[in-house]
Amino acid sequence: MQKPVFAANWKMHNGPQETRAYLQRFLAAYPEDPSRTVIFFPPAVSLAIAGFALRERPEILVGVQNVYWEEKGAFTGETSAPMARDAGAKVALVGHSERRQYFGDTDEVTARKCAAACKAGLIPMLCVGERLDERERNATQAVVLRQFKTGVSRLEPSQIANMVIAYEPVWAIGTGRTARPEDATAVHTAIRRSLREMIGPKAAEVPILYGGSVNAENAAELLAAPEIDGLLVGGASLDPETWVRIVRA
Ligand code: PGA
Repeated sequence: MQKPVFAANWKMHNGPQETRAYLQRFLAAYPEDPSRTVIFFPPAVSLAIAGFALRERPEILVGVQNVYWEEKGAFTGETSAPMARDAGAKVALVGHSERRQYFGDTDEVTARKCAAACKAGLIPMLCVGERLDERERNATQAVVLRQFKTGVSRLEPSQIANMVIAYEPVWAIGTGRTARPEDATAVHTAIRRSLREMIGPKAAEVPILYGGSVNAENAAELLAAPEIDGLLVGGASLDPETWVRIVRA
């Protein structure tokens, strides 16, 4: 079993100055711990300064929250995967529910972005998750597996074996409502089964994270549940001391 992964999705918080101040406080409170992997997803404008602030802690990774699938060109306002990599990113969040909900990222767009991330040498962290109405009509697994299968449809098996998946039920994101560990485990188990059909025994090495209203109080219980290999945390990652407590869960 690989090390647990703790990923902080800052969303549209922490510009460069705030990022520097945050990471100073975080590093002071978090000495190197080889038993876990920590990833920060700052806004694109703060990638470079995050990389600089973490230069003496190469075990802590920086990731970009979104990429466009073209490498360069007339796409005003977008960030390409090679540019994010140049700015210090090692990972790319793809298909976050806020991208799907507010910016129209479809399953097919998400697949292109996953492929672009891999091509640029970034590890894609593909987010999947059902809305409340989908859960209520028992469509959770169908929705999640559709998002997952389409999301990876442009990847080679070797790229799938090196990716990260995050299950984030939309109704749990930013709402204070968390999935019960057993409900998360059921979805993670279905994703793992699908992974196994694609890449065989290597499926066991792909981390599947849970996200949605994770905090310092519920992190340990979620992490202890079968098939939950790590946590993707939004709101509760914005305070460095709280985030340290979660990473130590
Ligand atoms: P939340 O967000 O922890 O604030 O619910 C999680 C996410 O959107 O990644």
